Amino acid sequence: IPVDPFDLVIFGGTGDLARRKILPGLFRRFCAGQMPPSARIVGAARTELDHAGYREMASEAIKEFGGTTAANSDKLNAFLDTVYYVAIDALGDDGWEELQELCKEKNRVEAYYFSVTPALFGDLAERLHYWGMAGPDSRIVVEKPFGRNLATAKNLNATLAAHFDEHQIYRIDHYLGKETVQNLMAVRFGNMLFEPLWNAQYVDHIQITVAETVGVGGRGEYYDKAGAMRDMVQNHLMQLLCLIAMEPPARFDPDAVRDEKLKVIRALDPVLPHHLMRGQYEADHSDEKAHPSYREAVEDPRSKTESFIALKTHISNWRWAGTPFYLRTGKRMSARSSEITVVFKETPHSIFGEDAGRHRNVLSIRLQPNEGITLGVTIKEPGPGGMRLIDVPLDMTFAEALGADSEHVDAYERLIMDVIRGNQTLFMRGDEVEAAWAWTDPIIHGWEERGEVPKPYESGTDGTTDSHELMRRDGRKWREVS
Ligand code: BG6
Repeated sequence: IPVDPFDLVIFGGTGDLARRKILPGLFRRFCAGQMPPSARIVGAARTELDHAGYREMASEAIKEFGGTTAANSDKLNAFLDTVYYVAIDALGDDGWEELQELCKEKNRVEAYYFSVTPALFGDLAERLHYWGMAGPDSRIVVEKPFGRNLATAKNLNATLAAHFDEHQIYRIDHYLGKETVQNLMAVRFGNMLFEPLWNAQYVDHIQITVAETVGVGGRGEYYDKAGAMRDMVQNHLMQLLCLIAMEPPARFDPDAVRDEKLKVIRALDPVLPHHLMRGQYEADHSDEKAHPSYREAVEDPRSKTESFIALKTHISNWRWAGTPFYLRTGKRMSARSSEITVVFKETPHSIFGEDAGRHRNVLSIRLQPNEGITLGVTIKEPGPGGMRLIDVPLDMTFAEALGADSEHVDAYERLIMDVIRGNQTLFMRGDEVEAAWAWTDPIIHGWEERGEVPKPYESGTDGTTDSHELMRRDGRKWREVS
C-alpha cells in the first residue's frame, strides 16, 4: 500500500548511514510501489554539491549497498528524479532559504532525518522552526547513540522536547525494524500455545545473543568511547529483552506497547559484579588478511573498552521472578548470529526412566541470518531400540515456510515507511531510553570504580572463557553461535 506523498529531508545526507541504509532502502520501497513518485527526498549536508552531483552519489550508493537488482535497475533513474540536494549550514543561515523553497508544497508529510551528531539536534530543530518548516505534524527521526548516559539522554530529550512533541519524535533502534522482531510479537500474542507457558513457572531461563564477526573496523574512534554495553546492550539487546518479557499490551498501538516495555526496563535488577564479563578481541592471523586486535584497531594499547560483554540479570516481577536472563554480544565472534532462546523447564517427572534421558523444549527465535523460529520438541527415537527420547526441531524458517512471496524488507526501509505513516510502535519513547540508561549507568560506573580491565578473547570464538563460566556455574550453557 503506497504511503502518502512526503518530503523527507536527510540532514547528514552524504553520510554513511544515508549511503548504506537510507537511500538504498528508499529505492527498494520505490520499486515496491510503496513510495509515491511525487515524494521528494532531499539530501542536506555541508558538502557543496548540486542536485545532479547528489543524484550521482545516491546512484553509486544504491548500487554499492545492494539496492539494485537485475529486476529493478531500470527504475533507478525514475527514483533519482525524486532526489534533491541542498548544501546547508546547520549552525548558520546558508542553504535554509533554498531548503524552505524546495519543501514549500503543503499537504504532504514532512519528515526530517537527523542523521548527524546529536550535538546538532538543537540547532537543526531551532532552524526548522525559524524557517517555518516545522509544523505540528512534522516528524523528526533521530538515531542512536541517544546520549551516553542518563544525564546526556535527558538533555537530548529536553532539547528535542523544546521544539517538538513526543508524538513527532521517532527514535530509531533498527533492531525493532527487523522482521523477526515483529514476528516475536505475533508469535507471543497471536497464538494460544505460548503465552500460558511464558513465565517463571515454565521457563528455566532466556538467552539473548547478538554475535558479530566484524571488528570495529573504521569506527574505532566512536566505538572506543562507547563499548558493547553502550553500543548494543543499552539499546538493541534491551529492546529484545523487553519484547520477550513484556506483558501483553491491550492493543498493538504505540503507547500500549511502549508502556509495557517501559515496565520491563524498570523492573530489571541491577547486575552484580560477578554476573558481568567483559572482553576485548585479540589479533587474528588465521588468514592472509591481517585482523588487528581491538586495542590496535582503536589505536590505544591501554583501552579498557569492551568489544564483548556477557551478563546475567533478573526481572523482578510476578511473571519472571527467579528466571535468569543471560545477555551477550560481541565483535569478532565465531559467526554472525542474533538469536533469542527460551529454554523451558524439564518435565516434573520422567515416566520413561533415567535411560531415556531428560529433555527440555527450546524455542529459538532467530533474527539473522536465516530468520525464523524453531521449537525443539521431544519425541521417541524411531526404530526398535525401545523408548529413547530425542529432540527434533519444529522449524519455521521463514524463507522456506513462506516461499518466494515473502519479501525481504530491511529494518531501515520498514522504519522509514512507519515514520511516513505516523506509526511510532517500533520507535523508542523518551522515557524508555532514559529508563534503559538508568539501568545501564550503575553497571558502567561499577566496573569503572573497580578499575576492571576487559579480558582478552581469541577472535573467531564466542567471547571470554569466564562468560562460559557464568553459565556453567548455574548448570547451563550458552547456545552454540552458528
Ligand atoms: C549498530 C552498532 O547499532 O548495530 C554496530 O552500532 C553493530 O556496532 C550494528 O555492528 C549491528 O547491526 P546488525 O543489523 O548488523 O545486527
